[in-house]
Amino acid sequence: MTNPVRYESHGEIAVIRIDNPPVNASSLAVRAGLVEAAATFAKGPEKVAVLMAEGRTFIAGADITEFGKTPTEPYLPDAIMALESLEKPVVCVIHGTALGGGFEVALGCHYRVMLRGAKVGLPEVNLGLIPGAGGTQRLPRLVGIVSAADIFTSARQVSAEDAFALGIADELSNADPFEAGMEFARKVLAEGLPVRRLSEMSVPPTDADSLAALKKKVARANPGHICHLRAIDVAVAGADKPFDEAMLMERGVFLDMMATPQRKAMIHAFFSERKTAQLPELKGVTPRTIRHVGVIGGGTMGGGIAVSCLLNGLHVTLIERDGEAVEKAHTGIARTLADSVKRGKLSAGGRDQLLADKLVTTDDYEALSTADVIIEAVFESMDVKKDVFTKLDAVAKPGAVLASNTSYLDVDEIAAMTSRPQDVIGLHFFSPAHVMRLLEIVVAAKTAPEVVATGFALAKALKKVPVRAGVCDGFIGNRILKTYRTAADIMVLEGASPFQVDKALVDFGFAMGPYAVADLAGIDIGYLTRKRLLPTRQKGERWGDWGDKLYEMGRLGRKTGHGHYIYDDASPKGRPDPEVEDIIAAERKAKGINARDFTDEEIVERYMAAMINEGAKVVSEGIALRPLDVDVTKLYGYGFPRFRGGPMHYADHIGLAKVLATIEAAAKDDAFFWQPADLLKTLVAEGRDFNSLN
Ligand code: 3HC
Ligand code: NAI
Repeated sequence: MTNPVRYESHGEIAVIRIDNPPVNASSLAVRAGLVEAAATFAKGPEKVAVLMAEGRTFIAGADITEFGKTPTEPYLPDAIMALESLEKPVVCVIHGTALGGGFEVALGCHYRVMLRGAKVGLPEVNLGLIPGAGGTQRLPRLVGIVSAADIFTSARQVSAEDAFALGIADELSNADPFEAGMEFARKVLAEGLPVRRLSEMSVPPTDADSLAALKKKVARANPGHICHLRAIDVAVAGADKPFDEAMLMERGVFLDMMATPQRKAMIHAFFSERKTAQLPELKGVTPRTIRHVGVIGGGTMGGGIAVSCLLNGLHVTLIERDGEAVEKAHTGIARTLADSVKRGKLSAGGRDQLLADKLVTTDDYEALSTADVIIEAVFESMDVKKDVFTKLDAVAKPGAVLASNTSYLDVDEIAAMTSRPQDVIGLHFFSPAHVMRLLEIVVAAKTAPEVVATGFALAKALKKVPVRAGVCDGFIGNRILKTYRTAADIMVLEGASPFQVDKALVDFGFAMGPYAVADLAGIDIGYLTRKRLLPTRQKGERWGDWGDKLYEMGRLGRKTGHGHYIYDDASPKGRPDPEVEDIIAAERKAKGINARDFTDEEIVERYMAAMINEGAKVVSEGIALRPLDVDVTKLYGYGFPRFRGGPMHYADHIGLAKVLATIEAAAKDDAFFWQPADLLKTLVAEGRDFNSLN
């Protein structure tokens, strides 16, 4: 084991350098190195030590790859205690992001210097954990329980300036980590600054109302999660205990959390998100340059895509149909950018500059002749799209990437309208496109590898999570959505109410159930999809018609105040409408269906089984490369609860045999819909799980 922690003597100043790429995670070797360096410093002639890291960041946290394995000594809290208990001052220099265990190491040092641009945070809750190396104990002693709990329950990254204002950082610096540390160490020597241990401080008094309000906010923002409120409880309980007892309590809860399925699921999500861009087909392939993006169509999606590009420094030329539509699109983009100003993401001057320097809106396709990537987001009609791609073929420069944001349509058919199908790809953004992080990169039969690489490079530039998808109706996300939505509709036909379905799924962890989502998206969207798919319907296929009734009644969802739910001043978020139940009851009668009761558990089982089964089909057809790509698609595009890790991870958790049994039982009533995926059957027969394919 090479030592990633180096000890250097610079006269009266010792420098302890951590060098453990890529992010200086506090692996076993780092922890052991810190303990050894603390011992060397304790015995050495130096009077002050600087702790700093090499590379892009200070310690970004515990080494997540060690989680789930038996912990090995020295544990991180002990390594931190070895630093804090030294009798000579230790100055920590923070650059990049000191997160989790990294921030906890910094809190164990006696002084903290932050480089401008650096950030600190305790994101353990994002991994289903609580801080486990003093974060819930030292931070409250420094900033109070409410401020500390706000940091460790929100997982937010605190800027150097905010950290300075809170007293977390003692100094801000523009120098490099070594110089910044040496400078502060010289100050310690010159002014005789003493050792200062947070563990010896007491927690400032807590305002009970502020704490209660924070707890309420945290509970509301994180339904289903167990770690957030546990972390607050641990901080509160620790405030009255001697520090070492408080630390033991924190460690105990940290280890309890480590053993939960939520922790496993969230770490699966963490690594999966980073694996979606690791594809053999991208190895050694250079993406094309992306500076200027063309967007065609300035409606919901085109406007959002343009904003996403502008906010990330790209030039945008947006094409609309005529002068009036151009004006409307420009106003829409300006409005969305104004919202970004309100939310503090952009300055008012920055917005004006983007609109003046980086955005062109026009109805002249010739303006696209210098664009590097052109993304079409016009109406979802093959005829309209074909017309647009024919025009694009005529105006786009050689080598420009021609992309479609289609939700369902055949990208091969679109590509065939051009003389350069190798340059055509699907880039499926999600609404609102400047917010939602998923980008499905739909690779058509003739798409060139550099064009695929350019899609991934664009995702990176826009800070999106890319998932490679193959061509089929709806790609990964919408294809699977259609299946589990149908499963829900069939349960409603058989007797469940849409409101029970929604409630059962919200209780499971979804932010909204499918019928509340339908109301939000607009009942017209589902109606148009059903009409489009009507010719493909097969004998024995079942579906619900009540959505068409609602559409015909002009009940289009939230936008008309009525859908499945009623939206008015009394219930802005919607209340169930009994009339919808009557409409469904009439449909059951007409179809000769005797309604039966469903338990919430059965609803969740069937909904999830439909999702997992279609996910398995999507993987075995190569539409998604691995089960993890399905998980990331559902997590980032469809509100799948992160603490369950994605549908395929969830399937592994409950056991594939159970999923198959649910499908086989349901198939007794409806063998057409419930056809188990061969892949699922094979994995069950071989005793394997989806993760074995990741
Ligand atoms: N442990 C192990 N590997 C890690 C890691 C960690 N804590 N953090 C990042 N990595 C790996 C990533 O998997 C990735 O590996 P790859 O190149 O093989 O895919 C590589 O480091 C680079 O990571 P990113 O692609 O995410 O790089 P970015 O520059 O975009 O982001 C980052 C850097 C902000 C540090 C981001 O990686 C991050 O948020 N990391 C996790 C931080 C975290 O959650 N820390 C808390 C851990 S729990 C803890 O500390 C418990 C403690 O309280 C006891
Ligand atoms: P929209 O109706 O809001 O906007 C479409 C825009 O395209 C309109 O402003 C229209 O004037 C313009 N347009 C039509 N023909 C044009 C042409 N020939 N040249 C220039 N502009 C033209 O539609 P929306 O919702 O933005 O959808 C666009 C595409 O994005 C569709 O393919 C849709 O399936 C897809 N999509 C939609 C999502 C959504 O949630 N709305 C999500 C993901 C993809």
